[in-house]
Amino acid sequence: MTADLYAEYAFNNDVVEAKNQLQYLSDTVDPHTFATLDSIGVAPGWECWDVGAGAGTVSHWLAERVGVEGRVLATDIKPQHIPAREGLNIARHDVRTDPFPTETFDLIHARLLLMHLPTREQVVSQLVQALKPGGVLVISDWETNYLDLILDSPDETGSRVFMRFLEICRAGSPLVGIDLRWAARAHSVMRSAGLSDVTTTTHASSWAGGTGACVLHRSNTFQLESRLLEDDFTEEELRTLRGVLLDPRFVISSYLMFTTLGRRAQ
Ligand SMILES: C[S@@+](CC[C@H](N)C(=O)[O-])C[C@H]1O[C@@H](n2cnc3c(N)ncnc32)[C@H](O)[C@@H]1O
Repeated sequence: MTADLYAEYAFNNDVVEAKNQLQYLSDTVDPHTFATLDSIGVAPGWECWDVGAGAGTVSHWLAERVGVEGRVLATDIKPQHIPAREGLNIARHDVRTDPFPTETFDLIHARLLLMHLPTREQVVSQLVQALKPGGVLVISDWETNYLDLILDSPDETGSRVFMRFLEICRAGSPLVGIDLRWAARAHSVMRSAGLSDVTTTTHASSWAGGTGACVLHRSNTFQLESRLLEDDFTEEELRTLRGVLLDPRFVISSYLMFTTLGRRAQ
């Protein structure tokens, strides 16, 4: 199936639930991202760009780390959930169509963005051009094709409804521009775009109902409610799903996150 190159982003930062969604997403993956950025050696004075920054938690971590000698740009097509702070320049920017900043960066970070953008390969090439010589590009995305995520469950019905929810999301993904295989393809695309020392790590962890990935899925059921109902999900199933995702006896793995780093030649 060919996705519309400018398919509407699957979610929308303007809706009431978006603030929760972006916060739960950060709670679920920030520890992994911060450990990765720490291992790269982000240091005072660095100039960084967080693309599609969402709630801005990574932008804030970077601003803290680069200090007053550094500079962080946080951009998003809808940047209203990025809190202001000293040393952080926040801008509305569509990475598919708007002109890129004229300055170049020591580090560019894009998490859970490119999986949504059908023009992702072109965007990667442009991001590579926006790196300083020796600069690092960090791309993290989820592999959402593998759905065997339930680790423990108090009841069959909750498990069945959760699986149906995941399957509907997977089936609908190409229609909103999501490439289910992108996370694993990022490595070769970044190498082909001219980066060297390209490496990928994968990460997932368990989350009990009421925490991390469970409350993120639950939040997504609100943004996706009309599409789920169109897909014959019943109101009763929605209630069951939202209930099980708050039950601490229900435990899932987060989707597997692929984090790929590559460096521009000196
Ligand atoms: C799934 S969220 C991830 C947010 C953040 N990077 C994180 O990992 O916490 C995707 C973000 O990308 C933004 N976005 C979607 N399409 C975009 C585009 N074309 N240009 C810039 N940002 C975009 C959305 O508004 C949203 O804030």
